Amino acid sequence: MGKNAKEYYLMHKDIRVCLMEITDDGSIGNVRKNKAAAAHFPLGGQMNNMKFHEWWRDRAIPKTRHGSRTALQKLGYTSTNSALVNNLALSLSDCYWIMPREEDLTWNDVNLYTNDFVDTFGEITINSDHMLDLRKKTRFNCATSQGELQKKWCIGTDGRRYMIKGNYGDSYQQSLNEIFATNLHKQQGFENYTPYSLVKLTVDHNMEGRGCLCYDFCSENIESISAWELLQTVKTRQNESYYFPLKKVCLDLGMPEQQFTDFIDYQIMTDFLISNTDRHMNNIAIMRNPDTLEVLGFAPIFDSGNSMFYNVPFEMLSRIRLEEINTHSFIQKENKLLQYVRNRSLVDIEKAEMNFALYEQDIFERQARIPLLQKMYERKIVSLKAFQQGKDIWKS
Ligand SMILES: Nc1ncnc2c1ncn2[C@@H]1O[C@H](COP(=O)(O)OP(=O)(O)OP(=O)(O)O)[C@@H](O)[C@H]1O
Ligand SMILES: [Mg+2]
Repeated sequence: MGKNAKEYYLMHKDIRVCLMEITDDGSIGNVRKNKAAAAHFPLGGQMNNMKFHEWWRDRAIPKTRHGSRTALQKLGYTSTNSALVNNLALSLSDCYWIMPREEDLTWNDVNLYTNDFVDTFGEITINSDHMLDLRKKTRFNCATSQGELQKKWCIGTDGRRYMIKGNYGDSYQQSLNEIFATNLHKQQGFENYTPYSLVKLTVDHNMEGRGCLCYDFCSENIESISAWELLQTVKTRQNESYYFPLKKVCLDLGMPEQQFTDFIDYQIMTDFLISNTDRHMNNIAIMRNPDTLEVLGFAPIFDSGNSMFYNVPFEMLSRIRLEEINTHSFIQKENKLLQYVRNRSLVDIEKAEMNFALYEQDIFERQARIPLLQKMYERKIVSLKAFQQGKDIWKS
């Protein structure tokens, strides 16, 4: 065994999928797979060892998460990776975790869906001044999660798990955008979206700010797997669109083709309306039954906050050329994403008129943006209408 390494089983609920060494800094050494449980091995790590290391690395809270340095310091962790190991790599988005080889724990003992926890890591990144030291009171003090924004998992009085997300910078627009997207999906009568609601939280200098809240769409019986992870199971060419590889993987896993295209069609068109530039492959996920491994469909649309020109300075807003918007999705050009849409009528343009009063809850300095945002959105409506009437708008 390597120096300062400890042996752990990678667990999928109560199934031991491999025995692996984890070093002090949280990286993986030797791995010995349990062949009898090969199907339960994480999809993202199945291709080869390097992919498995990446899968593991991606599991830690990103170092770049806002506030993570302070949180690590306060909790006495040397890295987000060691925080991951210390909390048995448990998450509220899937059913993987790690068990020290010499211990004898069960999924029942440890899982965050039914056991109490306090996400102190999240607590500190969201609200750094009001720190309670709860480390000794609960065994688990952070659930692993992805993404750049400050966030924390909490347990409601009804026992439901929910996530609170903050914003980047002073504005609350990212949180307000989540509500805006929620309202759009609600109006559309679309079912498969994650509803977000607005919450008050304390921000820097003890001020009252706004964040957003959503309930966990996973449970002990439903886990999510990101599109990014799915894409690790196939070879993709550089600069190749992710659309067809993702479609292939989903269909190979048993998803009916129309389930794939209907969901992605709807998501592409609504993202187009709200100018969501961040539908990257970690912002799309599928759901799976962790026991039978049956694919259940797409995770409800989530993370629509990086939209509505939230990062464009006021002076630049009137100069945006809609046909030049870039995204981080399957391909770069936003309007070209529409070429993947098979059924253009899945968004009801008559039900896409939005109330912009929501944005009056942003900080005062940002409110001058509202009429411009509204104008931009109306132009998007016009474009989408033309598209629905048969115009391939990316061609002109
Ligand atoms: N309601 C939920 N239920 C279960 N898992 C969730 C939920 N919301 C988010 N997640 C998981 O947490 C991750 C991070 O959440 P989210 O994408 O909202 O954060 P973010 O910081 O805005 O991300 P990004 O870096 O893409 O901007 C998601 O990729 C997903 O895996
Ligand atoms: Mg995200």
